[in-house]
Amino acid sequence: MALPYHERTHHCGELRGTDVGKTVLLVGWVQTYRDHGGMVFIDLRDRGGVTQLFFNPDTDPLAHGVARSLRSEYVIAVRGEVVSRGAMVNPKMPTGEIEIAVHEIDLLNKSETPPFPIENDIDTNEDLRLKHRVLDIRRPVVRDALVLRHKITKSIRDYFADNGFIEIETPILNKSTPEGARDYLVPSRLHHGSFYALPQSPQIFKQLLMIAGMDRYFQIARCFRDEDLRADRQPEFTQVDVEMAFVQPENVMQHVERCIAAAAKVAMGIDVPLPLPRISYAESMAKYGKDAPDMRYNMTIKDVSEVVRKIDFRVFAEPLAKGGVVRCIVVPGGGEMTRKETDGLTEEIKGIGAGGLPLVKVVEEGGKIVPQTGIAKFLSDGEVFAEICAATGAKPGDLIMFAADNEANVCKYLGWLRQEVAIRRGMIPENDWKFCWVVDFPCFGWDEDAKAIYPMHHPFTSPKDEDLGYMKLGTDETPPAADLLKMRAKAYDVVLNGIELGGGSIRIHRGDVQRKIFQLLGLSDEEAKEKFDFLLEALKFGAPPHGGIALGLDRIVMLFGKFGSIRDVIAFPKNARASCPLSLAPGHVADSQLEELGLRVVKSK
Ligand code: AMO
Repeated sequence: MALPYHERTHHCGELRGTDVGKTVLLVGWVQTYRDHGGMVFIDLRDRGGVTQLFFNPDTDPLAHGVARSLRSEYVIAVRGEVVSRGAMVNPKMPTGEIEIAVHEIDLLNKSETPPFPIENDIDTNEDLRLKHRVLDIRRPVVRDALVLRHKITKSIRDYFADNGFIEIETPILNKSTPEGARDYLVPSRLHHGSFYALPQSPQIFKQLLMIAGMDRYFQIARCFRDEDLRADRQPEFTQVDVEMAFVQPENVMQHVERCIAAAAKVAMGIDVPLPLPRISYAESMAKYGKDAPDMRYNMTIKDVSEVVRKIDFRVFAEPLAKGGVVRCIVVPGGGEMTRKETDGLTEEIKGIGAGGLPLVKVVEEGGKIVPQTGIAKFLSDGEVFAEICAATGAKPGDLIMFAADNEANVCKYLGWLRQEVAIRRGMIPENDWKFCWVVDFPCFGWDEDAKAIYPMHHPFTSPKDEDLGYMKLGTDETPPAADLLKMRAKAYDVVLNGIELGGGSIRIHRGDVQRKIFQLLGLSDEEAKEKFDFLLEALKFGAPPHGGIALGLDRIVMLFGKFGSIRDVIAFPKNARASCPLSLAPGHVADSQLEELGLRVVKSK
């Protein structure tokens, strides 16, 4: 008679020594099969874990006969008795104290041989795993990632719900919300030539909700951005999106850090000390070369422009003469780095645009500290070298690596170098969680190619009150870019171990300020009206001061779970070419569908 699989008594990770003697009904997939001189052993797996089954040919010949036909990933139901493993306890398995003496078995379904073993440590390329994601998710490591994601999501949802935020859904078929990426477009059948844009974020709608009086909103929101993919970027990803009315940055930051701390406790069992440290954008760039500082190791960037101005070295002198800077990092004990290692770094830093990698070793000779190798001969003036060592804290045995260029490039080169050296020299401690807030971002960045300013966060971000003067509000005048680049924003990013987890800002709630910002960004009144009329209209009707943030949920789960990529924490991710190896999306559509939409495909040459 068939076993009532819907009446399973336990999951496969549940049974313990205290259950010995119970009759149980388990269901799941055959993980492994071993035939020990007649006795058949099966590891049975379900979402909860693994339990060992055994089939005795003498006492249960029928069940044993079926067991002998089983293969990996066959689906079975079994009924039997929980027995102690006695001396054969397996301390590595949660269910290792017991096994099941199976009396009845039902083969519910067969399986073809899987293309890779259903185990954690497999050497299989990612596309194959994603093609067979159904099997991949059966591997405990992937299953656990999805369970972790669920727990983190739940803790975040609980935090906001418990603190007076309400969850509201915003549209997926949208007009474009600019967040700096390309839009995914959806053609309209009813309005040929018109397109919806999938949301890059719910930004404008959450602002509209604040103007509508729905103070304290959150949403676990799917967002879409057509941009180059990296380990921490997917074309569709999930944001924890938050907005509050009548707030200053601190109010938003306090809620977010408490929510993150609660999620870290759930996910990793750690207590994150609050408040998180705050660092200004300017300080972060100067010390870490990035706006997402990794504070797990020291080796901060030091400015030596004034000291090296005194020496005659073209590589430093030329950028300094053009208003540039000379900065360096001191690699502790880096004197031991081989020529091959430093040559490798030199080639790579050239790859990101630097002219080279000037460096020098600090050595002690006859009681004196002197420079050696690299650019040593330009530093032979003992006083200058002593000043460099004093300014940077370099000691004998260390290696100093320099960059000389305009400030933005020096930050880029040394920010990259600091991280590469730390990784290669094993300077990053494991299980260390260094969160921080980066505040006081500039309002605008400078696009050298377009020779124009662009919004550093997004065009709805409020400038700091004291910097509003730079924008010549109330006039049609466009102030010089140099002035606009001095403006700081009420914007903040939360960073973990050098990765941006989220970013937000206080928004512009005055129509005149918003219109002026659009104008400064080169949008004509007509363009602003065409794109953002619904926001500008809403700003006319009593918009309260408001602000918020969005956190990258995928990134949080990736970092808390110590995964290498956000693909590891998404059930059905896209690969690096933005396609899904499983469903083969994106796919072609029938000509009739195109016709209905008023579209024709132009084949690229
Ligand atoms: P921002 O563009 O900084 O801000 O996005 C917020 C956070 O979303 C995550 N994120 C991504 N995660 C995975 N793949 C991507 N392609 C991707 N792009 C962004 C990051 C990032 O920190 N509307 C504003 C927020 C606000 O102002 O409230 C916004 O979207 O973790």
